[in-house]
Amino acid sequence: MDDAGHLPVLLDEVLELLAPKGKSRKGCYAQVIIDCTVGLGGHAEAMLELAGGNATLIGIDLDESNLLKTKERLVRFGRRVRLFQANFADLEDVMAEADVASADVILADLGMSSTQVDDPSRGFSFQADGPLDMRFGSEGPTAAELVNTLGEAELADIIYRYGEERHSRRIARAIVRAGKRGRIERTGELTRIVAGAIPRKSGVRHKIHPATRTFQALRIAVNGELNSLERLLEKIPVLMSVGGRAAIISFHSLEDRLVKRAFAAAVETGAYRLLNRKPITGGAVEIYRNPRSRSAKLRAVERIR
Ligand SMILES: C[S@@+](CC[C@H](N)C(=O)[O-])C[C@H]1O[C@@H](n2cnc3c(N)ncnc32)[C@H](O)[C@@H]1O
Repeated sequence: MDDAGHLPVLLDEVLELLAPKGKSRKGCYAQVIIDCTVGLGGHAEAMLELAGGNATLIGIDLDESNLLKTKERLVRFGRRVRLFQANFADLEDVMAEADVASADVILADLGMSSTQVDDPSRGFSFQADGPLDMRFGSEGPTAAELVNTLGEAELADIIYRYGEERHSRRIARAIVRAGKRGRIERTGELTRIVAGAIPRKSGVRHKIHPATRTFQALRIAVNGELNSLERLLEKIPVLMSVGGRAAIISFHSLEDRLVKRAFAAAVETGAYRLLNRKPITGGAVEIYRNPRSRSAKLRAVERIR
């Protein structure tokens, strides 16, 4: 576990698959490692340690406070680390700014970091009251802006599509009704509205917190997460060097479906091979130590020509 109490998900599996060692894999001299979601620097630090003296790491994140923590954590690697506050959807622009033409390793560990979930002022969690924000960065509309401005049908659509929530219509109706009495600005308020909208008899109520799916849906919408992932997946095939490897860790079926499709399309071109046919998931020990890995799925490809 690192200083921030955050365990990088599927770390051994990522290191094994991406093998960012200097000369460990024939033809691949991991010179350029790109961590698209550098977060708290857990994966990045381990990859740098394995890669040896010549490798450089480009770390990308939308979250300025995570980048500051990572900067401190990776300070001993000096100029081998370059951090960028950017959306990974703009990977090509970041690489151009870093003056790098292709990557030997690309990693994206999607979703939120523990620092984001655990900080009530970020508004990601239904467990603690805070402003309804949910942005990874500081630009664009907050979750409060969405719930207070979207119509019932649009809200229901977001909650259904991104949260796979079967009570999406009831929840959207309750949100809009509550919004008419006054703006919804706090996570606690939204949590109560959602919990009150779900029928008591629903089995869902007992398995996960009733607000889980709605919060997930709003977070995905606020950050345009699927759109960013699609843009990253479009770029990966053209930005890898021959022998280079890319891995994506996703946390829900909507993301995993996009990754699976994009990697299959890359293989179709004949320039890539899948490194694992089925997604790699956390074993019992990892899930026990790190509950976040419960829904993690890791897929990886290698550029072969
Ligand atoms: C699960 S954490 C990564 C943790 C990291 N692998 C580690 O070991 O510390 C995901 C990070 O991705 C960032 N993020 C999410 N979407 C992003 C995007 N589209 N562009 C850049 N960063 C993003 C979040 O701000 C968060 O810090």
